[in-house]
Amino acid sequence: MCGIVSYAGNKDVIRRIITGLKSLEYRGYDSAGIAYMKDNKINIIKKEGCICNLEKEINYDDKASIGIAHTRWATHGKADDINSHPHRQGKITLVHNGIIENYDILKKELIKKGYIFKSDTDTEVAAAVIDDLYNENNDMIKAISLATEILKGSYAFNIINDDISDKIFGIRKDSPLIVGISEDGNILASDIPATLHVTNRYVVLDNYDIVVLDKDHVKFYDIKGKEIKKEVKIFANDNEVISKGGYDHYMLKEINEESEVVKKLISLYTNSGKVNDDLFDIRKYKNIDIVACGSASFAGQVGKYYIEKYANIRTSVYFASEYRYQKNFFDNDTLVILISQSGETADTLAALKLAKENNIDTLAIVNRRDSSIAREAKDVIYTEAGIEIAVATTKAYLAQVIVLLLLAIKGINNETEILEDLKLLPNIITKYINDYDYENIADLIKDKEHIFYLGRGIDYYLSMEGSLKLKEISYIHSEAFQAGELKHGSISLIDENFGVIAVVTDKSICDKTISNLKEVSARGAKIIAITNIKDDNFSDYKILVDDYSEVLNPLTVVIPMQLIAYNTAKKKNCDIDKPRNLAKSVTVE
Ligand code: F6R
Repeated sequence: MCGIVSYAGNKDVIRRIITGLKSLEYRGYDSAGIAYMKDNKINIIKKEGCICNLEKEINYDDKASIGIAHTRWATHGKADDINSHPHRQGKITLVHNGIIENYDILKKELIKKGYIFKSDTDTEVAAAVIDDLYNENNDMIKAISLATEILKGSYAFNIINDDISDKIFGIRKDSPLIVGISEDGNILASDIPATLHVTNRYVVLDNYDIVVLDKDHVKFYDIKGKEIKKEVKIFANDNEVISKGGYDHYMLKEINEESEVVKKLISLYTNSGKVNDDLFDIRKYKNIDIVACGSASFAGQVGKYYIEKYANIRTSVYFASEYRYQKNFFDNDTLVILISQSGETADTLAALKLAKENNIDTLAIVNRRDSSIAREAKDVIYTEAGIEIAVATTKAYLAQVIVLLLLAIKGINNETEILEDLKLLPNIITKYINDYDYENIADLIKDKEHIFYLGRGIDYYLSMEGSLKLKEISYIHSEAFQAGELKHGSISLIDENFGVIAVVTDKSICDKTISNLKEVSARGAKIIAITNIKDDNFSDYKILVDDYSEVLNPLTVVIPMQLIAYNTAKKKNCDIDKPRNLAKSVTVE
C-alpha cells in the first residue's frame, strides 16, 4: 500500500507531483507529504488526512526543480503529521512503499551511531541506513545497493540527496515502481496512472533495479552499479482516463461499466460459440488450488463451483495469507491459479513464488498489465476490466468470475449453449442497475448492527462477496453464512433486530435453503431475499431476479448485491470510494 511519486522537470514540478499523487490516493489516504528542492534547499510538508489537507499548505508558485511525494496507509506508527512521509535523516530524504521488517534492530544500532528518530516509522530507519552508507562511501548508487543487503522486507523508495540536488534515485524490491519518460521531465511512481499526465512512455522496474533521473535523463543500474538498458513501453489505452464520468462515485461508475467488461471478455476470449483454443486449458490437471485475497478469493469460490461442476477437476480455494504457511500438496498434476485485480497483492505474490519454487504450474488471472503477479506467473489471463479506482472491487470481481467460468466450460459438450446464455449477461446487468429500488432496501438495513448474508451452494459463495462489499463500505457488521449451518450454533444470534439477506437462485438446493430461512423467520428476523422464485413464502422484502439458466442465474445477483452495499453506504454518508482503514493495493503482508 501507499503511493509514491516523484518528478524532475522544468516547470510545474509541484503541481505535476500532486496530480500524480492524487491518482494514487486509492493506495492509501490517511496522510500525505511532499519534499521538493527549491534553490538547492529542501522543503518538506506533511499533513495528516487526505491530499486535500496537504494541498492547503502547498504554495504551487514555488519554483521547484525536483520533488518526491507520498500518500500513506499507516503500518508503523499512527496516521499523523510526524509519521507521514517523506522522512529525512542526514542528507537523505525519502518516500517509501512497503515494510522494513528488521527496522527495530537497525534502529537500535543507528541510535548508537548518533541518529535521532522523530517518527515511529520503519521508513525513517531506512533513510538513516542509506544516509549512513552514503557518508561511508560518498556514492549514492553504492549506498543504495549496500542498503539492499541490510534492509529486509519490501520497498519501493524514491530518494533525494542534499548533495545531488538535481537528481532523484529509486529502487524497488517486491513493491512496484514505474518510470515515466518524456522530453518534458521524468516521473517515478507506484503505478502507471500516476505518470500519464506527463507521458505515456514508461519502464517497469524489476526487483533491485536502481534508477537515477533528472529533468533530462533517466539511467538504470543493476545492483552491482553497472548501467543497464530497460525496455520502454507505450501505454496505449487512452480510454483509461481516471475520472468519475459524471457519476457520484467511482464505485457506481465501475458498476455501470460491468456490462461492457463482460462484452469485452466474451469478444476477446470466445469465438463462434467456443472458448478460444489459445485460452489456457485446465483439463490436463487433476487438482487446482485457487489462491487469492478478499473479493478475488470469493471470485475463486464461484470459480471452484464452476470448475468442479463443468470441468470435473477437484478445486480448493485458499486465502493467500494462509497458503504460504500451511501444508500444501504440490503434486505434478496440480495447477495453482492466482487471482488478483492489482497484481501486486503481497500475499498472493508470495503464494505464487512458493508454487514456482515447488515447480508447480502457475496461472495468474490479473487485471493490471505489467503487474508483478502478471509478470511472475508462468501463464497469465487478463481480466480486461480497465482501471478500477474504488477501493471496493466490483467490475474486476465479476471479470474474474467470468474468466473462471470460461476456463471451466472450455471444451465441454454444452459449451456453445452456455456461451449463448452468457451473451445475455451484459443486458441483464444494465437492466438490473435500473430496475430495482435499492434505496428502499438500503433504508431497511442501514440501521442494523449485524447482518447475515445467507445462501447454500453457489448462492453461499456469492453471498461471501455480497457480505464483504456491504461491510467494507457501510461499516455494518456482516457475515456470509451457509444457511444450513446456522442451526449448529449461530442461530442463537438471531432476533427481530438481526438483519438477514438471503440469496436463493440455485434450484437444486432452494427447498433446503427455504426451510433454513423459515427457521430464521420463526426467530423474528425479517428476510430480504434476492431470488428468482416468484411466489415465495419466505421473504419479507424481495428483489425478484429473472430465472434464466443454471449458469446464468447465480451471476444475476452480483449487481443487486453491489448496489445494495453502495446505496446503504450512501445513506450512511460513508466515504464510499475510500472506506476507512483500507487501501486498494495491499502490498504488505
Ligand atoms: C474488496 C477488495 C479486496 C481485494 C483484495 C485482493 O472489495 O477489493 O478484498 O479483492 O484486497 O486484491 P487484489 O485483487 O488486488 O489482489
